Amino acid sequence: MVFIYKMANVYSALIKVFGYERGARSFIDRLDLKFPEGARILDLCCGPGVVGLKLLERIPNSTLLATDLEKNFLKATLANARERGIDESRITVGVADVTYPDVVTLTDGTKLVLPSQSFDIVSIGASMGYSKDQIASFKTMLRLLKPGGHLINLEMSTNIVGRLIGKWYSCRPLPTDVMKRTFEAEGYTLRTIPFKLRDFPTNTTRIGLVAQSRAAQAEILAGAAPEYAGGEEVTIGEA
Ligand SMILES: C[S@@+](CC[C@H](N)C(=O)[O-])C[C@H]1O[C@@H](n2cnc3c(N)ncnc32)[C@H](O)[C@@H]1O
Repeated sequence: MVFIYKMANVYSALIKVFGYERGARSFIDRLDLKFPEGARILDLCCGPGVVGLKLLERIPNSTLLATDLEKNFLKATLANARERGIDESRITVGVADVTYPDVVTLTDGTKLVLPSQSFDIVSIGASMGYSKDQIASFKTMLRLLKPGGHLINLEMSTNIVGRLIGKWYSCRPLPTDVMKRTFEAEGYTLRTIPFKLRDFPTNTTRIGLVAQSRAAQAEILAGAAPEYAGGEEVTIGEA
């Protein structure tokens, strides 16, 4: 385990001071995706909640299950939620190893095996490289998505800066083309959504990857079925 992960508050303060949190939040603000109001979000390797809390803020009445290997990051996520004025009743936290993303131990000791098709969004940031079997983890994450749901990965970039920081954090994600082939084989399209200069400095270390099933995309294109059954549809991203 990386030493700084034992000091969640220090990690949380550093990514704020150096602008990485702001950059990730600005990227999520631009995602042109539709979600149902009240969406269920699973944020894996949540750290201090950068990705999950931002999605929670953007989607009205959504709820978040935030998981991490380190309990102190779960506390940091809840502290950041309080700081941002987010109603804590919308958030559940639990310990989970990204190798087995569907196996969660809640803070009261309750063990859960998350059911298939139970989340509208499964998100992760800069952490797939911690899975002992990234392809198996991705497959589980896709299985947890409801039909039409999205997997959002703010992955470590494969550029030189991303690779150096990834090395320092002992985090080595699969090459993007291997990820894309894995998703294709599962019936999903994995799109790369670039970070922009305005997401600085996060644009120097991360790439955006978003997956949705090809079946859902075809239905949406054909107008044959609503993207989501029930609930108001919410679009996040710039008009
Ligand atoms: C680089 S931080 C990313 C935090 C946040 N997702 C973000 O986008 O900024 C990596 C996080 O992964 C967690 N982590 C490391 N190994 C893990 C594992 N095997 N399973 C689950 N979480 C893990 C760490 O505790 C840390 O919170």
